[in-house]
This record gives sequence, C-alpha cells and structure tokens, in this order.
Amino acid sequence: MGWYGRWVFPRLLEWSMAGEPLSTYRREVLADVTGQVLEIGFGTGLNLAHYPETVSSLTVIDPNPGVAAIAQPRIDASPLPITSKPLRGESLAFADETFDWVVSTWTLCSIANLDQALQEIRRVLKPGGKFTFIEHGLSDDPKLQPWQHRLTPLQKRIADGCHLNRAIAPLVETYLPLVSLKTYYAKGLPKVGGYFYQGVAVKPV
Ligand SMILES: C[S@@+](CC[C@H](N)C(=O)[O-])C[C@H]1O[C@@H](n2cnc3c(N)ncnc32)[C@H](O)[C@@H]1O
Repeated sequence: MGWYGRWVFPRLLEWSMAGEPLSTYRREVLADVTGQVLEIGFGTGLNLAHYPETVSSLTVIDPNPGVAAIAQPRIDASPLPITSKPLRGESLAFADETFDWVVSTWTLCSIANLDQALQEIRRVLKPGGKFTFIEHGLSDDPKLQPWQHRLTPLQKRIADGCHLNRAIAPLVETYLPLVSLKTYYAKGLPKVGGYFYQGVAVKPV
C-alpha cells in the first residue's frame, strides 16, 4: 500500500462518509442486525453508533491500517464486544457457518475480487443467516452508464480501488438469493456515484 492509501485516503474517507445523509442509510441497513455479526470493510468505524443492542458480538475487518487507526477510538468507546482484524473480504479467516449476519456498507465497490469475497461471505454465514448491504453502483440509466465506465479508472485511483460501475444486485444474487432490494439515487450526491443498491440476501437453509 502506498503513501496515499495509508495516510491520505483514510482522512478523505472519514471526511466524506461521516454525517448525513449516510447516517440515515446506516441506521436503516443495521436496524434488524442481531446475534454474531461480521462487518467487512469496517473503514473508520462510522457504523458503530448505529448497531442495535441485539448484536451479541461484532467482528470487523479492514485491510487498511490507516483506516483501522481512525476506527480504534470508536471501538474502544463502544459497549459492544468487538474483535478487529486486518483481513480482506476475499479471505475470511473464520470457520464455516460462524455468523448470523454479515454487513457491508459501501465496500463491495472496493473489493478487488468481489466474486471471491461473496463466496467467502456465503461460506461464513450460518444457514438462514443474512447479508445486509448498501452500495453505490451501475445506474439503470443508459445515458449515465458510459460516464460511470469512463470515470471508474480515475475513481479507483482517488478512492483506493472503488468502482462506479459495478452492477451490485446481480453480483450478490449469483451467490446469495436476495430477499429484499431497493435501488435509488441518494439524496444530495452526484448521480454518477449516487445510484444506490440497498438489500438483504439470505443463505439458504
Ligand atoms: C468506501 S470505504 C467504506 C467504509 C465503511 N464501510 C463505511 O461505511 O464508512 C471502503 C472500505 O473497504 C475497505 N476495503 C478495500 N478493499 C477491501 C477488501 N478487499 N476487503 C475488505 N475491505 C476492503 C477499504 O479499506 C475501506 O475502508
């Protein structure tokens, strides 16, 4: 990881992802989460304030030590029992069928090998366990899509591997059936990065 990814990107992430409107979306995504939970791409820990009391243990992973350093004071201040590990979503060092829920907020855009990570998420979920996610991705507007494809190489450089042009729902559904999905343009964000996929998928029993 280069100097930009280690030192600049984490501060940019904290600045751009804190506050509204994302806090409202975070609360919605996390509202029903319960039991043993894994969050992938924990970032600077901005979801922590929104986890319900029904969570019995929280394991968080993120490969970037710069974001983990910003997250640590939030972990220390949280009443939840939290384990933090420097892992990638593509290689989850947990036993099969460990978690009741897996959470991802704006991380599926950044994982280099998303197919592998989704297989890992399916593996570590208990049968009947749920994957709740919110993500930006490929719009349904054919006029916007070429811009999302054109700008993705630049976005990947600025935002540590983030893609603007992933069709998130079909990718998730390849590995885990969706039980809910809504797509919409997020309030106050540029459309090119503001087409959101918010859903829950379940691992079949
Ligand atoms: C846009 S940030 C979102 C952070 C956080 N989830 C939030 O909602 O504020 C994407 C995060 O994914 C992490 N990430 C990048 N590649 C990853 C991978 N292969 N596996 C897991 N996390 C990854 C980055 O370090 C970063 O913290």
